[in-house]
Amino acid sequence: MQICRSKTAIREALGGRRCEGVPIVLVPTMGFLHDGHLSLMRLARTRAGADGLVVASIFVNPTQFGPGEDLDSYPRDEDRDFALLQAEGVDAVFAPDVAGIYDPAAQTIVETTGLAHVLIGKLRPGHFRGVATVVTKLFNIIRPDAAVFGEKDYQQLAVIRTMVRDLDMGVEIIGGATAREADGLAMSSRNVRLSAADRAAAPVLARALDQAEAMAPSGITASRLRSHVRATLEAEPRAHVRSVDIRDAATLDTISGPLTRPAVILLAVSFGQVFLIDNRVIQPPQEKP
Ligand code: PAF
Repeated sequence: MQICRSKTAIREALGGRRCEGVPIVLVPTMGFLHDGHLSLMRLARTRAGADGLVVASIFVNPTQFGPGEDLDSYPRDEDRDFALLQAEGVDAVFAPDVAGIYDPAAQTIVETTGLAHVLIGKLRPGHFRGVATVVTKLFNIIRPDAAVFGEKDYQQLAVIRTMVRDLDMGVEIIGGATAREADGLAMSSRNVRLSAADRAAAPVLARALDQAEAMAPSGITASRLRSHVRATLEAEPRAHVRSVDIRDAATLDTISGPLTRPAVILLAVSFGQVFLIDNRVIQPPQEKP
């Protein structure tokens, strides 16, 4: 596995194989890898094939963190990450430092105008601008045929798909299913920062989603379902509920009435300083024949 610290090094590492026409599949990450990331690497290998190249990037992107957020305390362990990627059969890792990505004189940003400003975009202003900009840069540096992102970051995936479509980027975007701990908690690099008591309380997100999914076939309206989910979360005293939304799963448009199309329940909950998200796509009730 090649470890490349600069744009030049990764371009050189991939250039020859690209000319041979082998598929290149990128998995962008911010490191501190867990089983969820490793399942994305496997998905990338399925797309790339045995002869293709799977490339992971590890970069804690400062532009997607707002003032007072957890950029400095974001967990990092590069040596462990490299060992995990090597064991997973990843071909190359791009792990630059901040100066290796951002030129201080840069003047260009990438932003999806609508999607970036709703839901998590409202809670974390500027977050999706940082994500879209760094993902564009990673695509331009690595020039992958396809890229894999986790479905846990549902809105991020929607932003990236929209950006790729709008800007004709020609990169196939593949979503990977959320990996979960045995008690249902969605895997996240941030989970290690939960105190023992918060870790014990955090599966309330998955529980609230399970309950909502079980209620959906009853014909309940989106706004009543949302109230149930919120009540379940608020019954957990350690959970600070930041947002509960039910949106059209394809467009992320608001829904309040009966569920007539697939919908997504989007949760954002803080435990102390740790911000967690989770989601579940639910199907509308089946029409009786
Ligand atoms: O999902 C993440 O880890 C990050 O937002 C990403 C896509 C690597 C961009 O920094």
